[in-house]
Amino acid sequence: MKLVIGIVRPERANEVLEALHRADIRGYSISRVQGHGGEVDRVETYRGTTVKMELSEKLRFEIAVSEPYVQPTIDAICAGARTGEVGDGKIFVLDLEQAVRIRSGEKDAGAVTPVGQ
Ligand SMILES: Nc1ncnc2c1ncn2[C@@H]1O[C@H](COP(=O)(O)OP(=O)(O)OP(=O)(O)O)[C@@H](O)[C@H]1O
Ligand SMILES: [Mg+2]
Repeated sequence: MKLVIGIVRPERANEVLEALHRADIRGYSISRVQGHGGEVDRVETYRGTTVKMELSEKLRFEIAVSEPYVQPTIDAICAGARTGEVGDGKIFVLDLEQAVRIRSGEKDAGAVTPVGQ
């Protein structure tokens, strides 16, 4: 299992959600975050150099998936989030040790696969 983290533009949320739905990915968490992706707002020079860092609003998707869904999840986030302009976001993939569905006690792949699939 992997935990796929996608940090995307908030205005692409619907496109990402639709792409995930088309790929049969039905479980995720979304939070609002602020981040920095290398953009430099302003450089002031006064007794040395000061670089002012700018924070931008992003959405963070966290999606726990079994192995067959890892690449489809990455592809769905890319398809939904890409505009081609700088700041489209990032995807991080982490090993996930364990998942538990609290209601049933199901574990791991059985816990991250939506009920009914
Ligand atoms: N190395 C990183 N670690 C953690 N979060 C990051 C990292 N890089 C970017 N992010 C997050 O992703 C958001 C979007 O980053 P961004 O798309 O600007 O990445 P980038 O690598 O600079 O790509 P681009 O060249 O398209 O701007 C940032 O605002 C931040 O929330
Ligand atoms: Mg950037």
